[in-house]
Amino acid sequence: MTGIDRLLFEKYKDRIISAETASKLINNNDVVGTSGFTKAGDSKSVLPAFAKRASLENIAITLITGASLGHTTDADLASNGALFKRMPFQADATLRRHINNNDVLYIDQHLSETAELLQNGHLPKLNIAIIEASGVDENGNIIPSTSIGNSATFAALADKIIIEINTSFPIELKGIHDVFIQEEYPNKQIIPITAVDTRIGSEYITINPAKVVGIVFTEAQDSPADIAAADEKTTAIANHLLRFFEKEVASGRLSNSLLPLQAGIGKVANAVLSGFINSKFENLSMYSEVLQDSTFDLIDSGKMTFASASSITVSKDCYSKIMNNFSFYKNKMILRPQNISNAAEVIRRLGIIAINTAIEFDIYGNVNSTHISGTKMMNGIGGSGDFARNAYLSVFVSQSASKENNAISHVLPMVSHVDHTEHDVDILVTEQGLADLRGLAPVERARIIIKNCVHPDYKEQLEDYCNRAQALGGHTPHILSEALSWHTRFTENKSMKHEYQLEKMI
Ligand code: COA
Repeated sequence: MTGIDRLLFEKYKDRIISAETASKLINNNDVVGTSGFTKAGDSKSVLPAFAKRASLENIAITLITGASLGHTTDADLASNGALFKRMPFQADATLRRHINNNDVLYIDQHLSETAELLQNGHLPKLNIAIIEASGVDENGNIIPSTSIGNSATFAALADKIIIEINTSFPIELKGIHDVFIQEEYPNKQIIPITAVDTRIGSEYITINPAKVVGIVFTEAQDSPADIAAADEKTTAIANHLLRFFEKEVASGRLSNSLLPLQAGIGKVANAVLSGFINSKFENLSMYSEVLQDSTFDLIDSGKMTFASASSITVSKDCYSKIMNNFSFYKNKMILRPQNISNAAEVIRRLGIIAINTAIEFDIYGNVNSTHISGTKMMNGIGGSGDFARNAYLSVFVSQSASKENNAISHVLPMVSHVDHTEHDVDILVTEQGLADLRGLAPVERARIIIKNCVHPDYKEQLEDYCNRAQALGGHTPHILSEALSWHTRFTENKSMKHEYQLEKMI
């Protein structure tokens, strides 16, 4: 059988089954934990087989993953009614629709927390774990593939384990993982990471072989990341940030190597990271949750020396480049469980510069990362909260306005949902400019945000709101009857622009 040479533990050889048979080991109402983080290292045969089964049977599970899954797995599960509850993150358009219709319950969770909540017994007991492996060692332990996510915790806590051995990955992946499980309360010890490249654990996930109920082979590849090319707006955002970092270096607060970077996924983050390639910054490092194309471009250019995360999520071309030159990249990266890559303790110690994307932010610096118009789930908070609260510098980026005629302003009197409070946000950037909120009181923040970040179409309107609110007084002045009116106006008029602004356009 293809891939049998990756199964080095003799006792598992009589447990080899098909994906379809494995899917039948999942029972109705089970709590299932599966590997997969930002499309990387997910279950590519057993979960899809379960989705197929659910199209014929009335069966549904609570599904807990690392983060989003690849291919159409989340969509197929949701469409076939296979999901009762889903956590801690998703990014699939079909599943999103089911979540917003309330036919799939969804818990949007800080990505660092899921493992601990399971360990504490704050979430239901896991019945079964499905974990993708690039191989299994002589002792039956799992060598993960392109992500670790919550897999080590799932394997430790689940009653049963199914291992999906994926032969599409090179066996050389062995060695890039660093698996560390923290003790339980009240015996938790420190996480002894003092640099991005500190190794603290093992190269594999230790499991109890008696719990393994099935070994499944697959050769399906990770779904590639969608890489959108930088455009005028993202390039402008990247340039504002790069100028800001240059000033931080000039002021002596940072060196040319800055501090370890974390960047959310997407085109803005990609544009910012790519901007470093032609900059004067050097010996950069990364302590993030996802390694993306720009990470490897920075390594290639000699600008980045080391990168730590929980997954590798890259485009098809970048994937081929990495796998064809694996020995070059291998000693420059490490994958960790997501409760370690996103651990508050480590983020604080290393002094991370966190760059994440906002759906919208308000004049006082509160950020909405998850809900469209305060009600409809987009993706989830992901790791943005883990990093924003604990970072040395917490940066949020967004376009200032979007849609035809700039119908939506992303800078508002009050955000319609709060993921990151004003206390967790240092720097806001749009293509218009950058607002440095450090050391500023709310009324000062409002002025600088309006001056530097708002789209010109909305400047007058926001200044007018701010003036009238401040005339009423208060530490964080608002006109509550009006604070969310920009959203209601968008629902009613298909534009956030005030009537007098729209009249100007006619
Ligand atoms: N009403 C209707 N639509 C709105 C809206 C509103 N009030 N506010 C924003 N939108 C729309 C925008 O117009 C845009 O739509 P479009 O794609 O049709 O142009 C969309 O919502 C948001 O897209 P955009 O501004 O381009 O942001 P993005 O694609 O870069 O994603 C997040 C932004 C916040 C959704 C994404 O970064 C995310 O999910 N973040 C949370 C997870 C995270 O930060 N993880 C961190 C580590 S990876």
